[in-house]
Amino acid sequence: MHPKIIPSFDSEARTVAHRVVDLLFDHVSRITERPVLRWQTAEELRELARIGDAASNDPLPSIGQLLDYSLQLHHPSYMGHQVCPPFPLAVLADLVISTLNQSTAVWEMSPFATMIEKEVVGWLNAQIGFQSGSTGTMVSGGSAANLTGLLAARARWRSDSHQQAARPVILCSADAHYSIARAAAIMGMGPDDVIKVDTDERHRMDLAALDDSLAALEDTDRSVMAIVATSGSTATGAFDRLGDIAGLRDRYRTWLHVDAAHGASVLLSPSLRRLAAGIEHADSVAWDPHKMLWMPLSLGAILVRNSEWLRRAFSADAPYLFDAERSSLNLGELTIQCSKRADAVKLWLMLRSAGEEPFRAALEGVTAITRKLYDLVMESADFQAMHEPELNIFCFRYVGAGERSADDLDQLNGRLRQALMESGQAWITTTLLKGSRVLRVSIMNPATGTAEIESLLDSLRCLANA
Ligand SMILES: Cc1ncc(COP(=O)(O)O)c(C=O)c1O
Repeated sequence: MHPKIIPSFDSEARTVAHRVVDLLFDHVSRITERPVLRWQTAEELRELARIGDAASNDPLPSIGQLLDYSLQLHHPSYMGHQVCPPFPLAVLADLVISTLNQSTAVWEMSPFATMIEKEVVGWLNAQIGFQSGSTGTMVSGGSAANLTGLLAARARWRSDSHQQAARPVILCSADAHYSIARAAAIMGMGPDDVIKVDTDERHRMDLAALDDSLAALEDTDRSVMAIVATSGSTATGAFDRLGDIAGLRDRYRTWLHVDAAHGASVLLSPSLRRLAAGIEHADSVAWDPHKMLWMPLSLGAILVRNSEWLRRAFSADAPYLFDAERSSLNLGELTIQCSKRADAVKLWLMLRSAGEEPFRAALEGVTAITRKLYDLVMESADFQAMHEPELNIFCFRYVGAGERSADDLDQLNGRLRQALMESGQAWITTTLLKGSRVLRVSIMNPATGTAEIESLLDSLRCLANA
């Protein structure tokens, strides 16, 4: 007889909660007994997801079904997009956050959770090297952080009377995440208002090309609202040269937003932080703890060097919420959201309980194993490395033996990725890199080891020769 599910925190709900926790821990601890994905068509999954009429009075079978058909991010052969298998303490923090359900836009609704978020923002700003006067908020992720950073840039741009008559433009690398162009579109800018600067041979924004584009805009009716640099690009994990780009920002008197959604976490590793050198010169930084700090979705952060611009971007008339006396306490005066989860608690709890060491170890671990995969690819005759990885993202392709046309290689690698995904042996992604279809891994799981990367290459070989 299952306990009855009733909407109160009573002993029956407690029993269910314990069973759910056991189910989850069993699932993760036996993850290698399953495929990375139990492949089903969308139609099959639609049928499995039907709500139906009869309430079962037991959530466990439905949770079990969700576990069965999910993409298994905890599997060490998951090497796909930049979504992590979260640290267990942060998962438990999620339960605490949901239970208390503090809304962190206004201090009176979340007195302690607001202070926790401010503490976490201060900690992130200190890692970047931002001084007092800086601020920030937690947001849903990198896309929201990029939009928020660019809204702060616009507030500064608008404050300059010289710009009033000009048309604003944003410059970013050709490899910038699509959320930059989307943020510009949300702000009412057209596709031509986002200028994509070429990348160099290491997939970093080409500095000479950036300088040329900036110079070409002088004495036109267009004015640069922001330069967007990327620290840890989506395609290859490349890090733009922030110190030099900040120099151009100064020369052309504009704003530097750094999309470090993926890469800012290198700041926690003494051996990797050189990749983001110069980040302290940014005006705003997007940093996603739900990527390389192993927090569950969602937890992003926008961090701004001069708090005035973020505040101006979101000044609002809402006497039912905001009053002048508490203005410095209300996070809702610095962000798009009104109802706002206390997601910062996840990171706060990890830092308080375990310190920075688990982050450093995980970052260096996934970087080392990515490097090892690169070495294996370099040593093999049938794979080709497309670049040297700096962090945990790496693109390569299967070339086999003998000559093949560029078209054949593109099609073969596209097919290989699909076949691998359907096989459930491993899960990787694909992208177009300078026009070529390539295989792409982002190794997000600290449990991925030599055995998994060797068997990834073996599986791809077998599928190519099947
Ligand atoms: C460099 C970069 N910026 C921004 C984003 C968007 O982040 P989110 O998915 O959290 O919105 C991503 C996502 O992969 C990214 O790689």
